Amino acid sequence: MSIDEQLVRVLHEKGDHFISGEELAETLGVTRTAIWNHISRLRDLGYTIDALPHHGYRLAGIPDKMLPDEIRNVLTADSFVSKIHAYDRADSTNDIAMRLAEGGALEGELVVAEQQLKGRGRLGRNWFSPKGSGLWLSLILRPSLPPSAAPQATLAGAVAVAKAIRETTGCEAHIKWPNDVVIRGRKVCGILTEMSSDMDRIRHIVLGIGVNVNVDAGAFPDELADIATSLKIESGRELSRLALLGAVIQRFEEGYQEIRTGGFEALKDEWISLCDTVGKHVRVTAEGRELDGVASGVDFRGNLVVRLPNGMSEHIISGDVAVIE
Ligand code: BTN
Repeated sequence: MSIDEQLVRVLHEKGDHFISGEELAETLGVTRTAIWNHISRLRDLGYTIDALPHHGYRLAGIPDKMLPDEIRNVLTADSFVSKIHAYDRADSTNDIAMRLAEGGALEGELVVAEQQLKGRGRLGRNWFSPKGSGLWLSLILRPSLPPSAAPQATLAGAVAVAKAIRETTGCEAHIKWPNDVVIRGRKVCGILTEMSSDMDRIRHIVLGIGVNVNVDAGAFPDELADIATSLKIESGRELSRLALLGAVIQRFEEGYQEIRTGGFEALKDEWISLCDTVGKHVRVTAEGRELDGVASGVDFRGNLVVRLPNGMSEHIISGDVAVIE
């Protein structure tokens, strides 16, 4: 652990209390001048640190940045997040996570970035990932499940994000099948799940989650201006990305545990209660086909069931859904 990280940890442990430069120097095994230099560095990173003669230093505020130590602080002590890979800039956190997983990374390794230069969305689309204003994360999962169960991880991810948004912002987030989270019909989160598997066994899944947290209205590119939103736009205030990250991971762990033991059935009622697609008249574009019908539910795999005007039902594995009424 670097001196900066150790220093942050000690300051966190002291809470509201001051700690002298001398004690810090002794604890960390460096000089008082070195402590002062590290304090300056932390301030440059965005930490607010009070300094008082004869008292020492006190942590007064943390930056809302994707720093491993701060991420650890918002996770529960028994969190399944086994390692944190934090980047200032990444092409795509999903690409990094896939490479890590192929190299043997473990279940629960988390990749986060302040900014993505080539953020990827579903169906080969780009994902707008500006610096410092969103949650751009990828989780490595290694469930003992057949490949056909992989979409359930996406559904658990959508449930987790919708619940975390409701808890931390009070905004009425809904799931739009299969993996969008929307507020007032506008997209605030997208999920891109990628997998490597054998015929009968998942090797690893990368669950990529993008949430527009503090993106300003004018910042979205033209093609997104009418369909995307952010939590800041919807709640009217700047939000802590770290707090949201903690809530998303915690809710995801709960849902992930449920699908591993009880399959999608275990999560289905909750998913349906959060979903604003089921019960609606929808137009589905899937595999080059377009069909109209009523979204009547989801099956045990999480596929959307659409009742067609002729009374037949189709189970849609993936596609785009537009709610017509
Ligand atoms: C979509 O709705 O099309 C899915 C968007 C998924 C975006 C996230 S951001 C973190 C992770 N890294 C990526 O490149 N994509 C996902």
